[in-house]
Amino acid sequence: MTSDKTDSKTKPPGFTSFLTGEWTELKESDRLGKCRSVTDFEKLNRIGEGTYGIVYRARDTDSDKIVALKKMKLDSEKDGIQVTGLREINILLNIRHKNIVEMKEVVVGKSLESIFLVMEYCEQDLASLLDNMAAPFSEPQVKCIMLQLFAGLQYLHENFIIHRDLKVSNLLMTDKGCVKIADFGLARRYEIPSRPMTPTVVTLWYRAPELLFGSKTHTTAIDIWSAGCILGELLAHRPLLPGRSELHQIDLILDMLGTPNDTIWPGFSSLPALENFTLRKQPYNNLRHTFPWLSEAGIRLLYILFMYDPAKRATAEDCLQCSYFKEQPSPCDPEFMPSFPQHRLKRKQMKQAVKKEKRKSADESFNSFGDSSSGIPLLKRIKQDNS
Ligand SMILES: Nc1ncnc2c1ncn2[C@@H]1O[C@H](COP(=O)(O)OP(=O)(O)O)[C@@H](O)[C@H]1O
Ligand SMILES: [Mg+2]
Repeated sequence: MTSDKTDSKTKPPGFTSFLTGEWTELKESDRLGKCRSVTDFEKLNRIGEGTYGIVYRARDTDSDKIVALKKMKLDSEKDGIQVTGLREINILLNIRHKNIVEMKEVVVGKSLESIFLVMEYCEQDLASLLDNMAAPFSEPQVKCIMLQLFAGLQYLHENFIIHRDLKVSNLLMTDKGCVKIADFGLARRYEIPSRPMTPTVVTLWYRAPELLFGSKTHTTAIDIWSAGCILGELLAHRPLLPGRSELHQIDLILDMLGTPNDTIWPGFSSLPALENFTLRKQPYNNLRHTFPWLSEAGIRLLYILFMYDPAKRATAEDCLQCSYFKEQPSPCDPEFMPSFPQHRLKRKQMKQAVKKEKRKSADESFNSFGDSSSGIPLLKRIKQDNS
């Protein structure tokens, strides 16, 4: 049988038999549906480029609506779409929540060489906002963002999905102050009991200690750790744990939380990375020193987000119930989040500046274990996003 492409405008879809030459109409129930073409969209400008795709702002010429088009990168060796892209499509097709970016459809490029995800367009991403805002978010605004993040995470985790790459550049915000979790390129469905997974997911600065110590069991707790890093970053107005290597990342965590042991984290000393080295002893939890101005309830929230033992770490639901969100100052209503000028273009220019800077400092080593310098320049976040 061959699919009959001729006369496709007048004939319903069907097949011509190789043997008899007879044409058969394809029953409605057997059709999988078809994708629109990317030529139905007018590309307006490029708004982002990350690890797995290029993102454009575009206009749907049928509906006149503005959308985001994410071009999936192809795997040149395997001659097809990367598995991360397939996972992203598969997961986004099956979820719907106001705090998760909505995927409207998948469209194909000319001659099927490329695939695009059509997503609702969000005016901001939090990384660009943080890099360009003159003043930090106020506490009511931070609470508003975090409540929305936890609501989106609660939905994902209830549906057995772990995002595995939560960071500020993967959090979008509409001009109505609605926060949306985006970029499901590394997201996975999990099973109980869990199967081993690669430990090198999650951008370094937001990576949970169990992953840094080589655990292959991934639980929803890795997203909760990343959410803690995001809360810290929003409150401090700079990345909380900006490690330059995995060892440096561990060092920064020890500085902030003290050295873990088997009493607070049963099974800790059997984690793969600890077979080869022992950790220096740092007996103090310094969360209170890191955020001296934060209320007790705020510190308590950070404590439960940064529990070393993933089994004891808070769930998204625990966080939503946390008294930090109930005490004064109250979270601001998303509708009343200030509108911000769009900073994406500035970010693009900064990325170009970073490339120049990188070339200049090609000799610079980023593996100096033990150097926990603070005062993080803006350029560092962009380096992290690009890595
Ligand atoms: N729906 C969207 N609306 C607006 N901007 C978006 C949207 N999706 C992605 N972006 C922008 O594109 C960037 C990269 O997209 P992302 O999905 O994170 O891809 P990658 O996997 O390549 O990191 C984001 O950081 C954001 O700035
Ligand atoms: Mg991304």
